[in-house]
Amino acid sequence: MVINMKVKIERLDYYGKGITHVDGKVCFVPNTLEDEEVEIKIVEDKKKYMIGKVTNYIKTSEKRIKPKCKYYDICGGCNLAHMSFEDENIFKVKIVNELFEHSCKYKVNIKDINYDDEFNYRNKLVLHSDWKQLGLYNDNSHDLVEIDKCLLVSNKINNCISDLDKTKDQIIRVSNDEKEISINDKLMTSIGDKIYYLSKDSFFQINKTLTEKLYNCIRDYSNEINPLKVLDLFCGIGSIGIYIDNDRYKITGVDYSKSNIEDAKKNSKLNNCNNISFICDRVENVIDQFNDYDLVIVDPPRAGLHKKVVDNLIRINSKYIIYVSCNPHTIIRDLNLLYDYYDLKDIKLFNMFPRTYHCESITILERR
Ligand SMILES: C[S@@+](CC[C@H](N)C(=O)[O-])C[C@H]1O[C@@H](n2cnc3c(N)ncnc32)[C@H](O)[C@@H]1O
Repeated sequence: MVINMKVKIERLDYYGKGITHVDGKVCFVPNTLEDEEVEIKIVEDKKKYMIGKVTNYIKTSEKRIKPKCKYYDICGGCNLAHMSFEDENIFKVKIVNELFEHSCKYKVNIKDINYDDEFNYRNKLVLHSDWKQLGLYNDNSHDLVEIDKCLLVSNKINNCISDLDKTKDQIIRVSNDEKEISINDKLMTSIGDKIYYLSKDSFFQINKTLTEKLYNCIRDYSNEINPLKVLDLFCGIGSIGIYIDNDRYKITGVDYSKSNIEDAKKNSKLNNCNNISFICDRVENVIDQFNDYDLVIVDPPRAGLHKKVVDNLIRINSKYIIYVSCNPHTIIRDLNLLYDYYDLKDIKLFNMFPRTYHCESITILERR
């Protein structure tokens, strides 16, 4: 294997890794920027691609910044920390447009991205234990990186790390107003004027402030649509359904997590929602029983929608679909399947996970 070769970075991929070519084969090089010239050694040589590691920066980009985190080199969680936050936002808009251009039947032209704080935005931190120390797993090797703070999480969380028991994993959460903190246990939190009870194993959006804007956007779309019946698929603790609830809508939420659905039922009572009911099951197991919905909201995990779910969305034929996605690759795949039946009315990006490559979107589809 050739070591220490000189290459020029052509562009970045979705994950923020530099792309170059070595002997005609694509090679991904983390911690590089477009046009940089670097020396790399090949650390993996697969059939279709290689992975290179920088051994020397020959010509760096004027856009390169020094990452603010002292763990940047050994943690790997913040894939974009070597570019400014402003450039990160520009990059995310560009890369999502490129992915759509390349792979999606719908033509989109996304102009900007919604964002809030660059740091201290997370309301949750999971620390792993090796019995002696607490830390994060390195993104690639899964080696434990002991940390005393993470720039992405609320300072309220950082301030309690040193006091934690190091002999077991720890989940630390803070309420979105940062008034309450919880270690491995339940928590009361809020989004806008809604309050949410959250058990240890339940899902909750991790961005303290931007979630409210994401949900406001979904609520604005819903108010425009003014549906009678709403299906909230992958509903978590019922947070979206409860957020958009008014006395007119009849909402059904589905999630496969028992803990989520138990919390969702409590949350609908806490927020005086009388028209919401919940089903605890896999969406693909129950979707064929639903008919006559005006609006279906889907907010799946990164894997996107099961083919059976897409087929049933087509069968249900709701006037509108709002698709909340944390993975542009899978939403593009699913949108292509809906292309013959729905028009894409709008798409908005939200930088819910600054300094990492992740990018959230909301797409609204109208029945053709
Ligand atoms: C991205 S979260 C969205 C939760 C919620 N909409 C929110 O905004 O907080 C995805 C949710 O899908 C649930 N989930 C994942 N796969 C599922 C499946 N096959 N069927 C039902 N729920 C699923 C998870 O439990 C999780 O709550």
